[in-house]
Amino acid sequence: MYDIVREYDLPEINRILNIPSVHKYFNFHPPLPMEATRKWYDEVINNRKSGIGDCVVAREGNKVIGWNYVFENNEPERNIVQFLKNYQGRKGYLAAIVVNPESAGKGTGQSLLHKGDLILKKAGLKGIWLGTNSDNLHAKHLYERDGYKLIGKLERYKVRSDGKVVDQMIYFKQF
Ligand SMILES: CC(C)(COP(=O)(O)OP(=O)(O)OC[C@H]1O[C@@H](n2cnc3c(N)ncnc32)[C@H](O)[C@@H]1OP(=O)(O)O)[C@@H](O)C(=O)NCCC(=O)NCCS
Repeated sequence: MYDIVREYDLPEINRILNIPSVHKYFNFHPPLPMEATRKWYDEVINNRKSGIGDCVVAREGNKVIGWNYVFENNEPERNIVQFLKNYQGRKGYLAAIVVNPESAGKGTGQSLLHKGDLILKKAGLKGIWLGTNSDNLHAKHLYERDGYKLIGKLERYKVRSDGKVVDQMIYFKQF
């Protein structure tokens, strides 16, 4: 079942983000405190109220198994703008997609991508972009299979939480 994120989902979201195989692809240093997850939720609620994005969750029973957070973002950092300049129209940004490792590989990620697209299309946006670590093979496979095109690469962009320096791949999908 898919729904927008609710306050009661936050403890499980925080727990999943603190699983090593998940947080190694994000640029925070664990443990991620509950307070940071609450702050993130406030941002989601503001975007929901402004009609520019939302976070969709996948649930089994009342348990969160994954989520996808998207919102309108036409003005990324300057080093990313260069890759997007050839694509006209208002754009969404995929800020985070996560599936609990216990539930991965069953199509939840793919469904979450589509639910996120629907939110952005309803808001009138024409495409979506994202950045992912060059070594995140599952994520790159998921995006490429879904029609995302690789439009740029930022070399030695990020230090992962495990200390590894990685390139950032920028992808874009036209709706
Ligand atoms: C990337 C991620 C969201 C994919 O979610 P998912 O529910 O596994 O996605 P799907 O099941 O729709 O598709 C995953 C693809 O990778 C393959 N895959 C193989 N082993 C896998 C594994 N252990 N975990 C995930 N995917 C796997 C799947 O088979 C599938 O490809 P296929 O259908 O062509 O065979 C999930 O792995 C995740 O949360 N990773 C950690 C967080 C992260 O990296 N997020 C992205 C940051 S940019």
